[in-house]
Amino acid sequence: MAEVIIVESAEAAGEIAADAIEALVGGRPDAVLGLATGSTPLTTYRALATRGHDLSRVRGFALDEYVGLEPGHPQSYYSVIQREAVVPLGLNPQLVRVPGDDGTDAGAGERYERAIEEAGGVDLQLLGIGATGHIAFNEPGSSLASSTRVKTLMHQTRIDNARFFDTLEEVPRHCITQGLGTILRARHLVLLAFGENKAVAVAAALEGPVSASTPGSVVQLHPRVTVLVDEAAASGLR
Ligand code: F6R
Repeated sequence: MAEVIIVESAEAAGEIAADAIEALVGGRPDAVLGLATGSTPLTTYRALATRGHDLSRVRGFALDEYVGLEPGHPQSYYSVIQREAVVPLGLNPQLVRVPGDDGTDAGAGERYERAIEEAGGVDLQLLGIGATGHIAFNEPGSSLASSTRVKTLMHQTRIDNARFFDTLEEVPRHCITQGLGTILRARHLVLLAFGENKAVAVAAALEGPVSASTPGSVVQLHPRVTVLVDEAAASGLR
């Protein structure tokens, strides 16, 4: 059963998530952190950055990446992770991986899985949730046992992410994403969601049936999940 904490603001959630990461890294300076992109994890990264912890030995694995953007494109998740996490947190860029950073050929997903495994697995995985119910870029219909692979983004997700681009046309149509099975192998999941447009997805993920129609519902299968939601995102919970 997930521990659901309803917080006053995204900033308050960021502090709680940062506490969990601080506790983890305090005990193990080379812990493995699962990094998310998008708007949701930003308050966590900001809170953590102010704590002044030495995170230079932490290893990081991002959830997903667009296919078709150069790594140097400002909206590639490689760039976003550098800008929002690696630089402000003082992570060692050599220890942070993004899916597809060594190619998006047929073997890329398997190599990423192996890299996570060789690092000893992810200790704490930060997660956002999309309005479609996706976690990472596992859109509805994704196998609950899926591993890192190339997928097609739903039109709704492209619309939701168009705010980061000049036009909808520029939003890539494909991505390489950790699978639901990959995410379930992390030892602690910290799912954050803010705002009214996440309410339906949050309720379906936490209280609906575990189903590929709501990929976020796989968190119900995990023994250690912390959910940090504001009132608006929690408004569909019973
Ligand atoms: C990003 C990711 C996605 C986002 C989700 C919510 O790495 O895996 O699942 O967490 O699309 O996006 P935001 O946070 O921008 O609302």
